[in-house]
Amino acid sequence: FTGAMGYLTMRGEFMGFSKKVECQGTKIEFENPNVTILEHSLVPFLLSQIRDPECSTSDYRRFSDRIMHLLIEEAIAAEPMNVTIKKTLAGGDFECYRLTKTPNDFCAVTIIRAGDSMLPKMFELMPGIKVGKVLVQRDESTEDKRSVFYYSKLPKEIAKKKVFILDPMLATGGSCSLVINRLKEEGVKEENITFINLISCPEGLSCLTSAFPDIKIITAVVDPNMNEERYIEPGLGDYGDRYFNSD
Ligand code: PRP
Ligand code: URA
Repeated sequence: FTGAMGYLTMRGEFMGFSKKVECQGTKIEFENPNVTILEHSLVPFLLSQIRDPECSTSDYRRFSDRIMHLLIEEAIAAEPMNVTIKKTLAGGDFECYRLTKTPNDFCAVTIIRAGDSMLPKMFELMPGIKVGKVLVQRDESTEDKRSVFYYSKLPKEIAKKKVFILDPMLATGGSCSLVINRLKEEGVKEENITFINLISCPEGLSCLTSAFPDIKIITAVVDPNMNEERYIEPGLGDYGDRYFNSD
């Protein structure tokens, strides 16, 4: 389905994204039109490969890339399209869809380092897209794994662009929040931001949707928890270390 989920945590607190919901069970579903959870029959299979600690680096890259392909296509498909009626070679009419905007109207902003792994797929699906980079890192020495901003390099006139933020993991939401604030400083409007993400969790989604209610989020899966190290559970571990084989 398309929408967002809320959960009762192990501590019995409700973690939701936009609505307060009374509930008896352990899992509640409710609508948040700005959060899309990827619906594709292959996602459970592909995710299970990369969750497996025994997955080799080459398979990890291969299966991750395949999910990124689906996620980025989902983001592109959500963009406005012009529809014209054309004829096929056989003579019948069909609706022909074309993106309203050109590749130059879009900008991909990667959150260094893990987000960089998503760029090749972005280039494959939207060749010619502009690219910006933001370096924020979780400070693993702090108890809450607070993110620190280090650097950004963004295209000129990014304020006029539709921006896809690329980062595979949404845990506390601290890293993505810093990036969105940086984009807003440049004049990018929340409604022009789509965060494309592989694995999210209720706390991260709650953090982003409450601070930035007009951004869109596309994620492949919402995992239920974070562990004490603020890693997503079950998650897959450190995405960047595994993708770049650099543990
Ligand atoms: C990871 C991940 C996100 C961030 C998510 O990056 O790629 O950027 O953590 O966690 P948060 O939602 O709690 O901020 P990390 O800082 O580990 O750097 P890396 O990309 O170099 O692995
Ligand atoms: N960063 C990761 O790579 N994985 C997590 O689970 C959380 C942050």
